[in-house]
Amino acid sequence: MPSSRFNVIPEVHSAADPAAARIRVPFVRPALPSWEAVGPAAAEILASGRLTKGPFVERLEQAVAARLGVRHAVAVSSCTVGLLLAYKALDLSAGSCRSRRGAGERCPVDSMDSLSRFGTVRSGGRSEPIGEVILPSFTFLAGPAALVWNNLRPVFIDVDPRTTNVTPQAVAAAITPRTVAISACHNFGNPCDVAALSALAAEHGLPLVIDAAHGFGSSFQGRPVGGGATAQVFSLSPTKLLVAGEGGIVATDCDCLAHFVRLGREYGNDGSYDALFAGVNGRMPELSAAVAISSLAMLDEVAERRRQIASHYRRELEQLPGIGFVESSAGSLSSHKDFSITIDPGRFGMTRDSVRRVLADRGIETRTYYDPPCHRQTAFEHFHDRARQLPGTDLLSARSLSLPIGAHVDEAVVEEICEAVATAKHS
Ligand SMILES: Cc1ncc(COP(=O)(O)O)c(C=O)c1O
Repeated sequence: MPSSRFNVIPEVHSAADPAAARIRVPFVRPALPSWEAVGPAAAEILASGRLTKGPFVERLEQAVAARLGVRHAVAVSSCTVGLLLAYKALDLSAGSCRSRRGAGERCPVDSMDSLSRFGTVRSGGRSEPIGEVILPSFTFLAGPAALVWNNLRPVFIDVDPRTTNVTPQAVAAAITPRTVAISACHNFGNPCDVAALSALAAEHGLPLVIDAAHGFGSSFQGRPVGGGATAQVFSLSPTKLLVAGEGGIVATDCDCLAHFVRLGREYGNDGSYDALFAGVNGRMPELSAAVAISSLAMLDEVAERRRQIASHYRRELEQLPGIGFVESSAGSLSSHKDFSITIDPGRFGMTRDSVRRVLADRGIETRTYYDPPCHRQTAFEHFHDRARQLPGTDLLSARSLSLPIGAHVDEAVVEEICEAVATAKHS
């Protein structure tokens, strides 16, 4: 797939920012649909005057639900808002999920039948957290932020540094009577073990919320990730493979959760103008939905191209001592939303940060996801029990380096970057 088939945003050099002016290979460039693909839809939207709450959002929701094999794909303004609303919906659903159903009728999401814990672990006043949610510290800061906005307490656990994801064993060890939900992430697009986490969650009567921000383009046993949990929440921001501009999708099989997320994105207003709960404006605009619909048509091709680039990176870099890679489990395919390596300073002979500086001097932009990890960030460190060591997380935070990937990275760019890494010590 030649990258010229897609719109690659031209580099913007800022005269006011000398560092930006030196970037030759940006960290990421989205593969966007062409104007020929999006233009007619944009013209239709502008002619209709319906910029929000229109047919394009509905069409996107139907197409995504069909692709993921879930009952509901609710479009929202971002993944962060999707996570925020999913937790809000879980709290609202406690008890009501069952009472809204007829006798003998089960929620398609098993754990929802036991959600009453969400409503009972309250400690009186709303100033105390209403319960704890187990999640990785090695994840993006939106995950714990969505919890704190819902007055839930994040309990940070370690990840397996080989996969960068939580293991069911680590989650099981962290469950206490205060736990009200489990969250995991498909870090860098590498699918986490949804089936095992879901079984664990069901065993304890807990909902499972997956931060699937990096999940479009990832699959497990031939099926796109998105089902099998209480909710999986995706991002459609420009660093992702499926792009809306800004946007998110809450994927769920639970009618009740989808209902509350739909209400929540609409200020909690069901149309009566008597808010049922404190919601937000979490809507996805029609123009964004139109971009996403065209982007969805390209998704398989974009994901395949990313996998080719990731394989090329790996072939070149695995010849170097001390370079590690994110390992996927059998049957999993990563979206490679990020292509991240680890650098063992002892074996490679240089720290991650030194390699990063050498690449920056050559105009190659990289990222150090996730450094600092969430349990060391100002907003969240006071939630963390210092007695709980997270060695895998600390190791990854110190060693992980995400290399450029996206529509602008072809074979020649990969080779230049790998050569820059290989010769970094001599720079
Ligand atoms: C793992 C993860 N979760 C959540 C988000 C938030 O996504 P959004 O920017 O759509 O709110 C991101 C953003 O990149 C992310 O990487």
